Amino acid sequence: MEKIGFALIGAGLWGHAHANVYATHPYARLVAVCDVVEEKAKDLARQYGVPWYVDYREMLKDHEIKAVGIATPDFAHCDPLVECVKAGKAVLVEKPLATTREDVDRIMEAITRYSGRVMVDFHARWSPPIAVAKECIERGELGRIISAYYRLNDTISVPMSMLSWAAKSSILWFLGSHTVDTLRFLLSDEVKRVYSVSRSEVLVKKGIDVPDIFQTTLEFKSGIIAQIENNWIVPNTNPNVNDTKLNVLGSKGMINMDLTHNQAFERYLEDRADHPDILVKPLVHGKYTGFAYESIRDFVERVATGRDFLVTAEDGAKVTSVILSIMESAKKREPVDVVY
Ligand SMILES: NC(=O)c1ccc[n+]([C@@H]2O[C@H](COP(=O)([O-])OP(=O)(O)OC[C@H]3O[C@@H](n4cnc5c(N)ncnc54)[C@H](O)[C@@H]3O)[C@@H](O)[C@H]2O)c1
Repeated sequence: MEKIGFALIGAGLWGHAHANVYATHPYARLVAVCDVVEEKAKDLARQYGVPWYVDYREMLKDHEIKAVGIATPDFAHCDPLVECVKAGKAVLVEKPLATTREDVDRIMEAITRYSGRVMVDFHARWSPPIAVAKECIERGELGRIISAYYRLNDTISVPMSMLSWAAKSSILWFLGSHTVDTLRFLLSDEVKRVYSVSRSEVLVKKGIDVPDIFQTTLEFKSGIIAQIENNWIVPNTNPNVNDTKLNVLGSKGMINMDLTHNQAFERYLEDRADHPDILVKPLVHGKYTGFAYESIRDFVERVATGRDFLVTAEDGAKVTSVILSIMESAKKREPVDVVY
């Protein structure tokens, strides 16, 4: 099979993961890299011996580029995405699809008008425990699903040191979007109403003006209730950057997951003890594996074979609607019906 040309917009932390897959996948080759910060574009492009750009509009004129990965900050997905769709490129956009209703509308209009092919990188759907849980639920092993509890938190190092733009996003966009999408996926259902309570203290005192935590009840259309917790202030001594717990309760059974303190691999050193990542993006014989890379590989394979994407722009739009409703509910301190 002839290798297809892929490009990247946003040569930051996660852009490096996209570039790695596009440059090493048997169906793909990395053709170009773009970042508004020239040094970042240059550094990554040199690593793979490809041209770099600071303006994605210039880059998109290259006809060898058939598909693009977008890994700009959470609030900066819309403009490059719309331009890629207009230019006829298939797109893998990082989560969340967008952080405003206006951006969602612009994206969906462009997709309709230009028959855009867009996948949103909700990579938790490729996580083996999540996929196994989905199959258990679909086989009816748990009976009728009654409720779910999903806690997906980050250590405080993520907003404080990892993301330069944390104050312009929030734990809700950064991880809450995964939480909502994973529950939609597992339960094959859509959120009807939300009630969220948030608190702001720790991060605000450290100069990052975003809430520390959102505790949210989701009511699904079928009647399933889910409780979700998203916080950005887990102490850095947590043995993993994430703190993930998931429970699904049905009329005949229950699933319980602890994906970050699972004790399958404990490491004890002189100065610390931790649970190294074996699920999200571990390096195996020099190759990045894990579900965070599998979703990008799946994008490449579906572009190459023309198969439909497993996560669509519609999924991204629905998740953004739910997150906007959670924010509204936390502000009003009352339940809010989700407007799709
Ligand atoms: N950091 C992670 O572990 C991780 C994991 C999965 C997904 N994501 C998602 O990936 C996206 C990027 O996150 P990140 O951590 O890599 O951020 P980052 O800040 O490290 O990288 C973002 C890059 O985009 C560039 N950029 C901004 N606007 C641009 C534009 N208009 N054109 C070209 N480049 C532009 C910035 O200069 C920066 O280099 C986010 O949506 C995030 O939620 C991050």
